[in-house]
Amino acid sequence: AKIALITGGYTGEAEVSFKSSAFVNSQLDHDKYDIYLITVTKEAWYYEDLDGKRHPISKADFTLPLHGDILTFDLAFIMVHGVPGEDGRLQSYFDLLDIPYTSCDALTSALTMNKGYTKAILSDIPELHLAKSVLLFESQRPEALKIVESNLSLPYFVKPNAGGSSIGMTKVKESAQLQEAIDKAFDAENTGKQVIVEEFVTGREFSEGIFRNSKGELVVLPATEVRTTREFFDYEAKYVPGLTEEITPADLTVEQQERAARILREIYVRLNCKGMVRVDFFLENDTDKFYFIEINTIPGQTPQSFIPQQVRAFGMKEGDFYGELIETALQ
Ligand code: DAL
Ligand code: MG
Repeated sequence: AKIALITGGYTGEAEVSFKSSAFVNSQLDHDKYDIYLITVTKEAWYYEDLDGKRHPISKADFTLPLHGDILTFDLAFIMVHGVPGEDGRLQSYFDLLDIPYTSCDALTSALTMNKGYTKAILSDIPELHLAKSVLLFESQRPEALKIVESNLSLPYFVKPNAGGSSIGMTKVKESAQLQEAIDKAFDAENTGKQVIVEEFVTGREFSEGIFRNSKGELVVLPATEVRTTREFFDYEAKYVPGLTEEITPADLTVEQQERAARILREIYVRLNCKGMVRVDFFLENDTDKFYFIEINTIPGQTPQSFIPQQVRAFGMKEGDFYGELIETALQ
């Protein structure tokens, strides 16, 4: 099959996308799949050949004029984090062109990119808890500080509502830091001009993947626990090797593992997910309750990312795993 492996994006996560796609490309079986790495940036969409020459993609029908031929693709393997690959825009585009893709559909992608709206859909899942939060819209920006302080108690996490990789995010421990944190989150590039502020949950942080295999079964991967020496699991902690201890499989009791798996399956089904997704949680110290942080529908695949670790801990080769995602999406 001819596969367009899509990388890049319009946000600060483009750098992460480049690393994720490079890793996926390095693991996939190139004898089985004919893979073209396609870069999508605001300025241009192109295929770069081995000599570094850029060949533009036709945006009208996603064909690639190359060496006198016009190439068409059987599948898009979307590896763009954030806009436009994780928020439903590329998914809608490929729907219009009848090109299958490896990720969630357009509606699920758009919904799950919005952390606040996603929490509303997941609010009544048994065993899943949600930190108290407020969602702030651009029109509320002048009163944002007052809204937060009258609804929530310190400390807070302040995030762009449609961001990723902790870009534009601040942990706020005192009131004096709040306005700056809100401004930073509102101003993060291409993240929708909405901000979510959540009360901090004191506990251990976990992340866990789930995917549908080519037999149609939902497979829950082993969880990863994240222990960082930094204030929280921020961009540096995520991508600079050595700043974070990541334990896969996480040290959870059997009951906790089973509970996490039930929650993951319920989230996957309820959000009508496709392909691989990864859910981030806190496990609150005093109560042993799982709190939802967010769902990632294009989870990172850098060598530091969790899904590759979880796939290995599951006893699968990463290339076979990515191959399964392709086979499932082609059905
Ligand atoms: N948003 C990053 C890529 C992740 O969730 O892994
Ligand atoms: Mg994320």
